Amino acid sequence: MIATIAPPLAGASARGSFTTEPTPADPYRYQIGFGNRFATEAIPGVLPQACNTPQRCKYDLVSEQLNGTPFISPRATLLHAWFYRIRPSVAHKPFRRLPKHPDLEANFSPLNPDVTFTPQDLGWDKFPLPDSADGDEVDFVDGLKTIGGHGDPTVKEGIAVHVYLANAPMRKRAFCNNDGDMLIIPQEGRLDIQTEFGHLMARPGELVVVQAGMKFTVTLPDGIGRGYIQEIYGSHYELPELGPIGSNGMAQPRDFEIPVASFDVDLSPSHSDSPWEVVVKLAGQLFAHEQGHTPYDVVAWHGNYAPYKYAMEKFVASAVVDRDQSDPSIYCVLTARSKIPGVALSDFLVFTPRWSVTRNTFRPPYYHRNVATELMGMMYGTWHGSATKLEPGGLTYEPSYMPHGESYERWKEATEADLQPERLGEGTMAFMMHISGHVSLTKYALERSGALQPIQPDMWQNWKAGFLDHIDEVQHDLAAAGLPTLERGGGAAIIPHKAISKSSQNGVATNGNTTNGHSEDLP
Ligand SMILES: [Fe+2]
Repeated sequence: MIATIAPPLAGASARGSFTTEPTPADPYRYQIGFGNRFATEAIPGVLPQACNTPQRCKYDLVSEQLNGTPFISPRATLLHAWFYRIRPSVAHKPFRRLPKHPDLEANFSPLNPDVTFTPQDLGWDKFPLPDSADGDEVDFVDGLKTIGGHGDPTVKEGIAVHVYLANAPMRKRAFCNNDGDMLIIPQEGRLDIQTEFGHLMARPGELVVVQAGMKFTVTLPDGIGRGYIQEIYGSHYELPELGPIGSNGMAQPRDFEIPVASFDVDLSPSHSDSPWEVVVKLAGQLFAHEQGHTPYDVVAWHGNYAPYKYAMEKFVASAVVDRDQSDPSIYCVLTARSKIPGVALSDFLVFTPRWSVTRNTFRPPYYHRNVATELMGMMYGTWHGSATKLEPGGLTYEPSYMPHGESYERWKEATEADLQPERLGEGTMAFMMHISGHVSLTKYALERSGALQPIQPDMWQNWKAGFLDHIDEVQHDLAAAGLPTLERGGGAAIIPHKAISKSSQNGVATNGNTTNGHSEDLP
């Protein structure tokens, strides 16, 4: 006997995979999922099936592959995409070299006289935008200013940190960075970014990654654009491992948004009716070619080498819920591997609002000397660090191994506070780059930006070593334990507090003022 199955009362099926909905601030739709392999077509039926390069593509489109890893990379790390476009990218006029960009740098070797290494911690106020009143039009490419970096793109190992300061859209101009992937962090003004893969809109609070070899054009819907860029050579961004956190938390893969296919078409059959300039960055130098048609003619694409954006407010912060502190790696959004196994080229961290609830804990950032160089900036809000001045659009720099932490006043307050649960960072977003190599700084950063803060020579001179108020108690405890007490000239010396304060200034270079008369000004 055949059993009958009752039909369901009702149901519904998805028509396709999920895409986001447009909003007033962002008119575009996105596919979601970090590292997914996507398939998207602006005209249905364009993507070839079971084949990447059919003899003849639909509508006589041209198939073209772009890869971000070698052909024979392990499958888990392979990055590539297939375009189905109106004209092949190679259809362009010969290259010409552009005049040297005054503030763009890509070689951070000590042999380069245009960069400087310094152990001095430094800070910059908000980097100034170009003055529109002067009639100067500065677009995203012309407004790139390199702050510093490590390594060299010609060996595909290293990193550069830039700011962009723009007041004009790129007009029929595309940029293609052959040196590395760019992690773009808007701080003021949205970026409307057209790519071969489709459109992205990024506002302050979101980040965008445009990988090496991809053409893109930036326009400024809010009239200005200021922000930060981390550029990595020879590596690609990944989500950090989650370890014992498990499969959820931190930056979640489905919160990354990837454009859907979108194309423009020059309907004139002439090849000269739509003049475009494509600027290519190679080894930090700019080259350009003209072409008589839009570079954004990709009707459909598939693959996993594609630009994406991420709203950092979505970051799920983890924290200690009882006592003690975690390392700041718990705030890592994206990481990029260096050539050394287990060492990141850079970890990109974000600080979003969160609860602080620990008991019996020194809650401010602990005093530390970090093997990584730390560069920190702010998208919006107020920074409450006591020893460092940081405002939205500014930057701080803590070189590798150099000590830093909170002021004496903040230490005193934090060690005596009645600890209660408190909300931190409401209305504030800041980031930090943990860069494993030594970072040299450019002449723009040190001489031309107009934003470099003066060094505070007396910042640490008022530190009161509370230990010295407990000498009698220490002597008593040492004696009680059968240990030698502190004696002047012995194994340990009692040094009066006043003497410590005085001796600590000897020979220390502070803002160019030295006591021995032989050191050079820093940085
Ligand atoms: Fe630090």
